[in-house]
Amino acid sequence: MKSLRLGFIGAGFIAKFQAIAMKQVRNCEISAIYDHTGAAELAKFVKENALGEPKIIDSITEMCSHCDAIAIFAPNYVRLEIMEKIADAVKKGAPLKGVICEKPLGRTVEEAEKMVQLAKDANLLTSYFENQLHMNAINNALHQLQPQQEAMGNFTLARSTEEHAGPHNGWFWDPTQQGGGVLSDMGCHSIAVARHILTPAGKPTTFLEPVAMQCDTSLLKWGQPKYREKLKEKFGVDYSKTPAEDFVTGIVTFKNPETGQLVKGQFTNSWMYDKQGLRLWMDAIGPGYAMEVNSLVSPLEIFVGDEAADSVADAETALEKSTASRGLLAVHHNEADFYGYTTELQDAVESFLKGKDAFLDFEYGAEVTWLVQAAYMAAEQGKTLDLTDETVKNELKTYRSLIAQGKGAEVLFS
Ligand SMILES: NC(=O)c1ccc[n+]([C@@H]2O[C@H](COP(=O)([O-])OP(=O)(O)OC[C@H]3O[C@@H](n4cnc5c(N)ncnc54)[C@H](O)[C@@H]3O)[C@@H](O)[C@H]2O)c1
Repeated sequence: MKSLRLGFIGAGFIAKFQAIAMKQVRNCEISAIYDHTGAAELAKFVKENALGEPKIIDSITEMCSHCDAIAIFAPNYVRLEIMEKIADAVKKGAPLKGVICEKPLGRTVEEAEKMVQLAKDANLLTSYFENQLHMNAINNALHQLQPQQEAMGNFTLARSTEEHAGPHNGWFWDPTQQGGGVLSDMGCHSIAVARHILTPAGKPTTFLEPVAMQCDTSLLKWGQPKYREKLKEKFGVDYSKTPAEDFVTGIVTFKNPETGQLVKGQFTNSWMYDKQGLRLWMDAIGPGYAMEVNSLVSPLEIFVGDEAADSVADAETALEKSTASRGLLAVHHNEADFYGYTTELQDAVESFLKGKDAFLDFEYGAEVTWLVQAAYMAAEQGKTLDLTDETVKNELKTYRSLIAQGKGAEVLFS
């Protein structure tokens, strides 16, 4: 196999972004797209950009015979049923080699573990898509600071944030469909990337042992009557009845199993970040050295004055989730690469072509889900959770947060 034929299930926001990333990735093509909203438009983009000649197919079983790997880019609430159909098709003889799944792997620990099991039972290679661990800006900084880490000791604190003014589709806002609010949606990125930065070079992704979790979930903007009305109008979601958090912050403590040293990852995520658009901000401190990444500081900026503002075409082509189209604007000329999408896709393609799992497999994805759910539990209980406690570990196996159950009022309005 020289080129990996990919099938996309889901043709919305992330599928389009991944197709843009694919323009910079070798040895792959899109051979099938699942027949759902957006499929025809995505197929047109794929053909126009010579990324493949995709067939639009309305059966997952048939898709599994038409590609080498399937990428699940559909909403969180349909993950498991899609994975069940894929596993079933493979067990019945479909020649599929691998499966890719966007974050989060599951809305609960139970769901994520089922995803792992289904892939294992069907003997499929896996790739969990967590783009931030593939960000060249982060990995470059870690590479540059490797001599300092070796001489002085590793990073002791990593702070990571992903923030914007709110998601683009109704299902993200509905905690019963999405699995929670901004913690489930973006906390998974920030917790994972903080751990990655703290992990000593050359050690596996799960080398650092999580020992404690502190977390606070709150509803700062979208629970106010004026903004609740806006959500109802635009997305049909009622935050007076089923609210989700639009702000979260927490600290996860890890132990280095070789030295016993404790290090901390502080994560902050919001859907009420009313600045230019999406901001990724990571900084980390070690003894005598530091690093910082801020996606709103770009080498490229444009200016649009009031007089010229009416003719702005599409602010989102400048920056994901942008909120303004005039003034001094931060612009990313290659967002797909900056966010790590190209590198994660290249890694999945190369790994699958070599017959192995990607750098981040489904088991890793399940571990991230576990940490996110531990954060919900810590916030609900209002205390630092001991992640080494067997009772806590047992509770997490079947835990579903009150927010995800649609009972967010009990935690967010008190
Ligand atoms: N890594 C990132 O930065 C990032 C960014 C955005 C989204 N995501 C993840 O990607 C996934 C999709 O998000 P999105 O923003 O593209 O959502 P979206 O709502 O924009 O698109 C969802 C797509 O799935 C399709 N779909 C809906 N129900 C389906 C079903 N039952 N079977 C098959 N397809 C179905 C829709 O038609 C649509 O094409 C989510 O899990 C989200 O968490 C990741």
